Amino acid sequence: MSRASTAGYAAEAEALARQYESVTFEEVHAPLVHLLPPPGRALDIGAGSGRDAAALAARGFAVIAVEPTAELRAEGARLHAGSAITWLDDSLPDLPVLAARAERFDLILLTAVVMHLDAGERARAMARIAAHLSPGGRVFMSLRHGPVPAGRRMFDVSGEETEALAHAHGLATLHRATRSDMFARPGVSWTLLAFTPA
Ligand SMILES: C[S@@+](CC[C@H](N)C(=O)[O-])C[C@H]1O[C@@H](n2cnc3c(N)ncnc32)[C@H](O)[C@@H]1O
Repeated sequence: MSRASTAGYAAEAEALARQYESVTFEEVHAPLVHLLPPPGRALDIGAGSGRDAAALAARGFAVIAVEPTAELRAEGARLHAGSAITWLDDSLPDLPVLAARAERFDLILLTAVVMHLDAGERARAMARIAAHLSPGGRVFMSLRHGPVPAGRRMFDVSGEETEALAHAHGLATLHRATRSDMFARPGVSWTLLAFTPA
């Protein structure tokens, strides 16, 4: 059996939360911020410490933060106790807890998450994401490229194959950008993608 997509996160949760919170939503998503929909319902999948969920709540979104690593969920709930965020213990590819709620969202974020899923999981995840998107909604996705940190499970996932998968699930590309790593980690770079229903 393959290692879990969350491998390595629990043990380092406190330090990782500090790192995630040292940059802002606006900095992390700079190439996509102009594509944000007006405040509505937002879903942050793999929300980590809740940096983006809290920023979206402050912008007036009703936010659900999905985070399977209990230690990161706890950090997020503590750090953003004053934010109107609903935390869910759920995980890709099938999001069974969320699926039972049958909700749709105007914005779905997957920031530095998808490359933790294998090819089969990525296909199932894309189907789930498309099913939870409102008509006219937007998906923001960031893919990390480069060396895999010790103890983590990560795959080499290109922007091209992610776009092809999104298109196969009825989504159209709104924007695609590449950028260097905000923490200047050697060899690390990023692809940022925005999708909407075709
Ligand atoms: C690199 S962190 C990014 C956290 C946050 N999105 C950010 O940008 O700061 C990756 C996150 O994805 C979560 N994750 C890993 N596998 C997942 C899965 N199958 N479903 C949902 N989240 C997952 C991890 O627990 C971790 O919080």
